[in-house]
Amino acid sequence: MKTAVISSTGLWTPPDSISNEELVAAYNAWATTWNKEREADIGSGMLEPKPMSSVEFIEKASGIKSRHVMNKSGIIDPDIMAPRIPERKNDEISIMAEIAVNAARQALDAAGRKPEDIDAVICAASNMQRAYPAMAIEVQKALGCSGFAFDMNVACSSATFGIQTAADFVRAGSARSVLMVNPEICSGHLNFTDRDSHFIFGDVATAVLVEEESLAPAGHWKILGSRLKTEFSNNIRNNFGFLNRTAPEGIDAPDKLFVQEGRKVFKEVVPMVAEMISSHMKELGLQGTDLRRMWLHQANVNMNRLISSKVLGHEASADESPTVLDTYANTSSAGSIIAFHKHSADFAAGEKGLICSFGAGYSAGTVVVEKAA
Ligand code: COA
Repeated sequence: MKTAVISSTGLWTPPDSISNEELVAAYNAWATTWNKEREADIGSGMLEPKPMSSVEFIEKASGIKSRHVMNKSGIIDPDIMAPRIPERKNDEISIMAEIAVNAARQALDAAGRKPEDIDAVICAASNMQRAYPAMAIEVQKALGCSGFAFDMNVACSSATFGIQTAADFVRAGSARSVLMVNPEICSGHLNFTDRDSHFIFGDVATAVLVEEESLAPAGHWKILGSRLKTEFSNNIRNNFGFLNRTAPEGIDAPDKLFVQEGRKVFKEVVPMVAEMISSHMKELGLQGTDLRRMWLHQANVNMNRLISSKVLGHEASADESPTVLDTYANTSSAGSIIAFHKHSADFAAGEKGLICSFGAGYSAGTVVVEKAA
């Protein structure tokens, strides 16, 4: 069996960013107008007023201070409260493919690879902008790669599932160089009029190049092992889909966007992931303390604090478990890859780390890596 490694990564960040202050001002203006327009019904007790959001709550509950987005003006306009991303013609590159290509080019350059060296492209993300043709095939064409390409969706765990899929292709010999991209335009599935979740997500694209060890550049990352897990739950759900077009409430209904039982997710996912990491480490003959760093899924700073404490036996420092949540918010599958991309240059050969994702499904993935010389 061949050995699969991570050769390089890429990160593309949208230039626009929205602070908590700007987001809360837009939501509170929208909610105030909504309440005013329904004053009589609210007064008679027929309707509940929309509660106000707060900057302090958001930062304390999640660790998020701002988020990058594809379109700021629509999201912070109280009359719109959604991103406005113009549709493109079929002969133009689609927006998801474009941002994936931006991240992919960085990963290829970092490894000294040309598009024609790539055998397969996987687009792994929590939302695809259309049913078909696959986003990955459009990325393949835009870059000029040959071979094959396909999409996969495992919500926030898409990237770790994508890394294992790519590594399995390399191990089995069906591809030697696999490009895995995560274009996440999470603002498109977020309900900006829902106070409990309007602050959670941001937009970004990441890329990971998984290759056969003999091809990889110096300083690559050995994949010591990866593990995937799923367990059905309705606690994070999005009912948008191609069968909804006849639904009486239409595709704008709140359940056709991201909805979650945040408290339940917190309580159920933390122990599941901590146990998964510990048992995966044990299986590899390692302990939590053998990890120089954990690049955890970036959903919530308090969740990560708890998971890392359970794995390490003490509260993790920013060096042991870095966060990018403050400026990126939750970027679904891309979160742990952003953390890995931005916080891994200081590793010495032989040092080990863990890339970990978790989210809707439920789904979770762990990838243990070691820096090569
Ligand atoms: N501004 C002000 N107050 C808010 C608010 C906001 N934007 N959103 C919720 N609140 C209020 C709630 O109404 C509640 O008030 P109450 O105590 O009077 O009922 C209080 O703050 C606590 O709300 P709750 O939803 O229980 O907050 P929480 O501390 O559990 O934090 C999450 C909410 C979503 C940040 C948290 O549950 C979480 O991180 N869950 C993990 C799930 C996740 O991140 N999933 C993403 C996909 S992987």
